Amino acid sequence: MKPIIFSLPGNENIANSIAEKFDAQIGEAVIHQFPDEESCVKIVSDVKLRDVIVVCTLHHPDSKLLSLYFLCRGLKEFGANSILLVSPYLGYMRQDKRFNPGEVITSEYFAKFISTFVDSLITIDPHLHRRLSLDEIYSIPSKVLHASELISKWIKENIKKPIIIGPDSESEQWVSEVAKRAGAPFEVLQKIRLGDHDVKISVPNMKNYIDHTPVLVDDIISTARTMIETVGHLKNTIMNAPVCIGVHAVFAGNAYQDLCLSGAGQIVTCNTIEHISNKIDVSELLAKNIQSTLIENKN
Ligand code: R5P
Repeated sequence: MKPIIFSLPGNENIANSIAEKFDAQIGEAVIHQFPDEESCVKIVSDVKLRDVIVVCTLHHPDSKLLSLYFLCRGLKEFGANSILLVSPYLGYMRQDKRFNPGEVITSEYFAKFISTFVDSLITIDPHLHRRLSLDEIYSIPSKVLHASELISKWIKENIKKPIIIGPDSESEQWVSEVAKRAGAPFEVLQKIRLGDHDVKISVPNMKNYIDHTPVLVDDIISTARTMIETVGHLKNTIMNAPVCIGVHAVFAGNAYQDLCLSGAGQIVTCNTIEHISNKIDVSELLAKNIQSTLIENKN
C-alpha cells in the first residue's frame, strides 16, 4: 500500500510537492474551526494499516498544536500503521535554557508532548544551539536535514562575488558550510540580544571585500532585527546591497516589510514556511528523506 500524506492548513503546497516526487497518496482530512475556536477534525481517507505522513510546519505553534494532536490521535485510532511527522520548521527550539529565573524550558516539554503522538520526525535545520541533537529532548527517532547545499547552489547561480556573513556565533554552523560549498569567503559577527526586538551586532570588517556582495545567512528570520542591524552596518561599507537569506521565514508581525525597507537588496528564504520570499525549494530534499525513513522504519 502507498504511503498517505496529510497536511495541516497552510502546508498543502509543500505536501503536494512532496507527494509528486514519490509514489504517495494525498490524504483527505477536514479541520473545521467552530465559532468558539474549538476545532473539529474529520479524517475522510481510509488509513487502516497505512504508513501516514503528516506535514505541519510549526511556526506559530500554539495555534496549531491541538489540531495536529487531534489529527494524529484520530489517525492512530482509525488504524494507521505509523505516523511520520514532517515539520520543515520545528518551533520551540530556541527556548533551550532558563534565560531568567522562573522560566520554563519549553523546548523540552514541547518535544516530550510531540513524542507522545507521532512515531518519528523529520525536520530541516532546527535551532540546535546549546543542544547537539534532537535526541536530547525527543524520545522518538528523528532525522535532521540541512538546507545548506540548496542555499549554496542558489548563491552560486545568482550572486557574483559573494561574501557570506553570519550575524552571530550560532550561525557559524550554517555559514561555514554554505561558504565552503559556494566557494566564497565568510565572516561571523557577534550578537548581543537585549530584548525580543533589540539586538546589537558587531560591525563587520569589509575592507577586503568592497567589490563583493554581502550575503547574510541565518536559520530563522523572526523579528528580522538581526538582519536589519547587520544590513544597517553593511550599507555604509560596501557597494552592493546586501542579500538576506534565511532558512525559515517566520517573519513575526511587520518584520518582512521592515526588512524590505532596511536596505536589503534581496530577501530569500526556503519554503519550509510558505512566504512570498520563498525562492529555495526543499520539497525534493524532504521527499528523498521521507522515502528512506519509511524504508528504514520497515526494517
Ligand atoms: C537565533 O539566534 C537565530 O539564529 C536567529 O539569529 C534569530 O532567531 C533571529 O531572530 P530575529 O529575526 O528576531 O532577530
